[in-house]
Amino acid sequence: MTRDSHTDDGSTDDQPRPDDTANDANRSPSPLRSDGGTDAAGADNVALDPWGSSTIADYRKLFEQFGIEEFDEVLPAVPNPHYLMRRGVIFGHRDYRPVADAMREDEPFAALSGFMPTGDPHIGHKMVFDEIIWHQQQGGDAYGLIADLEAHAARGLTWEEIDEHARSYVLSLLALGFDPEEGELYRQSENRPLQDLAFELGAKTNFSELQAIYDFDGETDVSHMQSVVTQMADILYPQLDEPKPTVIPVGPDQDPHMRLARDLAARMRYFGVTEAFASFELEPEERPIVAEAYQTLQEIIGDEHDIRCIDAAVFLDEGKEAVDPSNRDNYPKRKLLGTESDPERSVKNKLYNAGKEPLRPRTRIYDRNATDAAFEGLIEAVDGEKRVYDEHVDAFDLDAAEADRLAREVELDNGGYGFVPPSSIYHRFMTGLTGGKMSSSIPASHISLLDDPEDGYDKVKSATTGGRSTAEEQREKGGKADECPVYELYAYLLAGEDDAFAEEVYEECVGGERLCGGCKEQAAELMESFLEEHQEKRAEWEAKLDDLDIEFDSDRKRA
Ligand code: TRP
Ligand code: SF4
Repeated sequence: MTRDSHTDDGSTDDQPRPDDTANDANRSPSPLRSDGGTDAAGADNVALDPWGSSTIADYRKLFEQFGIEEFDEVLPAVPNPHYLMRRGVIFGHRDYRPVADAMREDEPFAALSGFMPTGDPHIGHKMVFDEIIWHQQQGGDAYGLIADLEAHAARGLTWEEIDEHARSYVLSLLALGFDPEEGELYRQSENRPLQDLAFELGAKTNFSELQAIYDFDGETDVSHMQSVVTQMADILYPQLDEPKPTVIPVGPDQDPHMRLARDLAARMRYFGVTEAFASFELEPEERPIVAEAYQTLQEIIGDEHDIRCIDAAVFLDEGKEAVDPSNRDNYPKRKLLGTESDPERSVKNKLYNAGKEPLRPRTRIYDRNATDAAFEGLIEAVDGEKRVYDEHVDAFDLDAAEADRLAREVELDNGGYGFVPPSSIYHRFMTGLTGGKMSSSIPASHISLLDDPEDGYDKVKSATTGGRSTAEEQREKGGKADECPVYELYAYLLAGEDDAFAEEVYEECVGGERLCGGCKEQAAELMESFLEEHQEKRAEWEAKLDDLDIEFDSDRKRA
């Protein structure tokens, strides 16, 4: 597995995996900031490892290194954003816009996340539970799944342990407001359609790829690999009935899974859509060169039906003056030798080779995995002027978005899945109450949703703070709320919807009006009542659990 230099013994095996934020000097989950963190010297390497213990010293690096986008950029598109979004706790996303659009326009969308039942659910998991529930309340189809196959394969838990923890995760999810009538809860091991989908996705995934993404090697067992395709199936499961934008709320350690899932969603499609200008294919970096040449030629030649590939080749090679459609036979015959890595040259070569073939912008729908019947269906479905080739259809009267809709329709009519690439949102990991990493193996560092409320109170009371060494200094300089795990508790959980309250704590702290003793007392009391209330609700659901369609007694043999 990809491990970075901060990797420890891997003892934190819950998801979301809390990280060590000790290096992250200025991290600010304050309601006022949501820039995804600031630089931390000497923390250049970010490794995202779903089964290791990812240490994320600098969230901003995730944008540059992995192409995760900043959540702030889509925030304005989200109707009534969740407080974790407003406060920058949800800091990043991949392709969340289609989900936000669907939400605003009352179109179907879904949210799904999964939990490895490796221990008790804790306040880190609560964030993800809340994210699923919030999307459900915004009108989405919601799914919560227990990743029991993964827990067994990748963590070696016994089925007895898994059953017990699975039950507990489900109870907390329900207690926090998940509506099981509207949404779906499942265990990977019990879900046959899911496993069938995993099998199909496995047929499109090979070992080299898993090696590259997860650092798997010859020692990796097959069930671990199977748990990967199972997760791919989880991520696409909400689209089994009908393709729809789907968001997967997770910690950034799960991003490698998202990249593979997005790739597989595309690989399963019958057709792809690109833009072309002639029968040959263009690379993305070549397209703008041809587009520009085409535009200039329109000015020179006028009649768009009389622009030929060779005109563009000559134009790019020798300039405007050399273009003379009435004299094409005297154009130089050329083949430019040379580097494929230079798009200018490869474009000219393609254009010279195509000779007098007309140059005209078109939308290309190409065959990826289509059956013959589906390809026939596509040909028929394309309206207006079209050209049919062995492996693609060029449409002259459809734009890319229309072509995409049409291609999906034909795919669905012919029995395909038509998957929309799944989206994701990423939240920051909480700092441990003892300062470093929040770890399930250090009880004082985290608060389990099953902790006795009084223990929860005590843990908060003895938490590390961002306070100064004396009350006097604190009054003078203010506390360091940005480095304070107690402030994080307010922002991530205790202040709930109340932004003004979170902001007040922050401002009072940094302004020196708030002292840690009282601040912790207030947080501890809030934590105690949160746990009391949560556990009461769990108890209520306990009584109703049998009515739900989910099994907590695996009759599996020990293996
Ligand atoms: N791999 C995830 C974890 O470590 C659990 C998981 C399984 C999951 N399937 C999923 C998460 C689908 C999100 C979506 O904890
Ligand atoms: Fe943290 Fe509160 Fe102390 Fe500020 S006053 S440093 S928020 S405990």
